[in-house]
Amino acid sequence: MNKRTIFIVGNWKMYKTVEESLTFLHDLLPQLPSLLQDKSLKVGLAVPFTSIQSMAEAAKESMLQIGAQNMHDASSGAFTGEIAARMLKEVGATFVILGHSERRKIFLEDNATIGRKLERALEEGLQPILCIGESLEEREKGNTEKIVAEQLEGALSSLKEEDLSSLVLAYEPIWAIGTGETATPEQAQEVHLFCRNWIRDKYSANLAEQMIIQYGGSVKPGNVADLLRQPDIDGLLIGGGSLEATNFAKVLEQVPSPQIQEQTQEALK
Ligand code: PGA
Repeated sequence: MNKRTIFIVGNWKMYKTVEESLTFLHDLLPQLPSLLQDKSLKVGLAVPFTSIQSMAEAAKESMLQIGAQNMHDASSGAFTGEIAARMLKEVGATFVILGHSERRKIFLEDNATIGRKLERALEEGLQPILCIGESLEEREKGNTEKIVAEQLEGALSSLKEEDLSSLVLAYEPIWAIGTGETATPEQAQEVHLFCRNWIRDKYSANLAEQMIIQYGGSVKPGNVADLLRQPDIDGLLIGGGSLEATNFAKVLEQVPSPQIQEQTQEALK
């Protein structure tokens, strides 16, 4: 049985002012206790920097975690326009998304930079969500595993097993992000299993078994249950589908309870 706690994270990207963020919370928070009931489920929202503090304060008594979408790898310094991990922690962020494909592609972040950010986040006690995933062209050439392995190796090369207990991976095939085209549960499961085995080979079975691996790319209420029934999919990273409180609540509603998950996984064997 999959004993990992499911971790669902909304990635708001560059959407929502502080006022809009708080309106969303106002709609979602009253529904959370009943949505999370009987489920082994952790929920987070990666919001714009400007919204972190007020969101974290407003969500303090709830089960909702607030996180960031990026950070710099230095602890401080002359880096105009950048933000450090300890600044994020101070205003209430508990996690940070690193290496999202938009950061890699538009802001030219490479695996080595992402690795340094990862190291800093861990050092400062921010839970990192490391995004990995291939483009359509890479998939069509049969290079998915090669690319994902390079991204893992590049970002994790200097990190030891004892540093990685809080690391979350997010497999996000680039061709599925914001396109409405989701990877099939089987396609996603195949890559998730590959990542878990990669972690097992490089580190240990123990770390591999406890690591949460999220799927991201056009997740919507209609495909949540099928994705999460796969044995190696332990959570979701959701962009567009997390922007409306009603829709995000529907996503949470679709998360199968542990009993149902266990039964399906037994049946899939
Ligand atoms: P999407 O984005 O759900 O809108 O496809 C996912 C992401 O970019 O993390």
